[in-house]
Amino acid sequence: MSHERPPELRPRHATARNPERKTDGALVARFSELLGKPMIPWQRQVIDVISEIDPATGTYWYDELVLTVQRQAGKTTITKSYDVRNALWGADRQTWYLAQTGKDANDQFRDFVKSWRKSRLRRLSRPPRMSNGSMALEFRNGSQIRPGGATEAAGHGVQGDLINVDEVWSLSKLQAKNLKDGFIPTTTTRLKLTGVRPQIWWTSTEGNGGSEYLNDRLDRLRAGDIPDRTAFFDFGIPFDADPEDLETIWRYHPGAGHLFDFAQLAEFRQQFDDDAEGWARAFGNIRDDGITERAIDSVLWHDTLGPVIRPERGLKVCFGVGVAMGATRTVLAACIGRDGKPPVVQIVQELDGTGTAPARLLELQERYNAPICIDRRGPSAALADVLARELDPDTWEPVYRLTDMRASDAVTAPQSFLSALEQKGVAHAPDPMADEQVCTAAKRKSGDAWLWNRTAGDVSAMEAMTMAYWGYTHMPAWQADDVQVF
Ligand SMILES: Nc1ncnc2c1ncn2[C@@H]1O[C@H](COP(=O)(O)OP(=O)(O)O)[C@@H](O)[C@H]1O
Ligand SMILES: [Mg+2]
Repeated sequence: MSHERPPELRPRHATARNPERKTDGALVARFSELLGKPMIPWQRQVIDVISEIDPATGTYWYDELVLTVQRQAGKTTITKSYDVRNALWGADRQTWYLAQTGKDANDQFRDFVKSWRKSRLRRLSRPPRMSNGSMALEFRNGSQIRPGGATEAAGHGVQGDLINVDEVWSLSKLQAKNLKDGFIPTTTTRLKLTGVRPQIWWTSTEGNGGSEYLNDRLDRLRAGDIPDRTAFFDFGIPFDADPEDLETIWRYHPGAGHLFDFAQLAEFRQQFDDDAEGWARAFGNIRDDGITERAIDSVLWHDTLGPVIRPERGLKVCFGVGVAMGATRTVLAACIGRDGKPPVVQIVQELDGTGTAPARLLELQERYNAPICIDRRGPSAALADVLARELDPDTWEPVYRLTDMRASDAVTAPQSFLSALEQKGVAHAPDPMADEQVCTAAKRKSGDAWLWNRTAGDVSAMEAMTMAYWGYTHMPAWQADDVQVF
């Protein structure tokens, strides 16, 4: 293939331009020229579609854009001229550019301000505010363009007429939900007030297994679930193509021949060295599966947050044990019943190694008259053995009241815990360690079932909670009167 001319555009998906609607794209294109970066064909294609005007209302047809495209394609660049166009549409408009972190967003903003100052457009604004924390370009009509970090913004919420969320791959479902929940309710009012339909843009290259929100969103869009007012653009090599074939990359990269030539493409590949996954992701827009998807999504975890419970007389309690790989630490959790409400699992304690665990567990068992649930296999096997073997010298009865958990039960326990969360059949108390582990805790297949994947990171707290819940649901003939006063 000749590399003299740019290849023809081959998106994996592109919402088609509807010729029955006019588009405001030409004006955005003009701003791009004035900012020194005339649009290349794919940029114009996306802008023409997202700028379509609904003949019935005279404003934008679309309220959402989802755009995934390779690195070095010019995706961040088009948000800038679009923001300018948007800000000039009327007085007192608010547009936000949100990047992964506040620093990323500020860097992009500084870059934008450089081209702004060089362009004739600069007379339309007041001098840009460049101090960290309150960076803004304010137009003479009162409209503003502001940068921000997506994580911070998801915490307090931003309102406005246009929000660009860039590098969406870094967001959790909960963060994306918070962003949307802060924005959407105000859009109807803004539309009425300004006559311009507010939009939210989600732009990104593909991420990895941890890209909770983007993966879910792309999976649904690719399955054909595309809402009427969402414009969807998906660039990248075909999912089964070889990312190491530079011809393929060239053919499917919409910046090829416009922003770099074939010789530069080979140099880009060299820069990635032995990072094949990183290369496939950046230049093929292929998801990096190196990190597996979390088992409990952030929204579910957030929605199942319960209170911290102090066990007392009349409550049903079971303890669960989780041991980290290499027996470096032991986590103790409790599942505690509540009247008329689902039980709560909570972390009780974290111990170094496993050595002090038997004494502590005995204390808890006695004090709360509660059984203990521990997996007899895996990293907790040795500790489970110690507990199982300990007999009372007088009665020859086992000292520890271990839940009768068979190997076949241990394999279903994680799914039981997850299902219970999904059905709001169990809540979890706030806990920094659990909150941290849940972000990365992934599944590992075991026959038809799954277990916590211990190789990707520490899941001892997840195990402890899983065991506590399983033991709790399998407590035989428990009676409230069994519980002692303490
Ligand atoms: N239409 C354009 N004309 C000239 N240069 C462009 C254009 N679009 C993007 N660029 C340049 O190409 C590079 C990559 O663009 P960027 O928007 O940062 O890409 P992405 O966000 O997709 O990684 C930047 O240096 C940018 O200035
Ligand atoms: Mg970018």
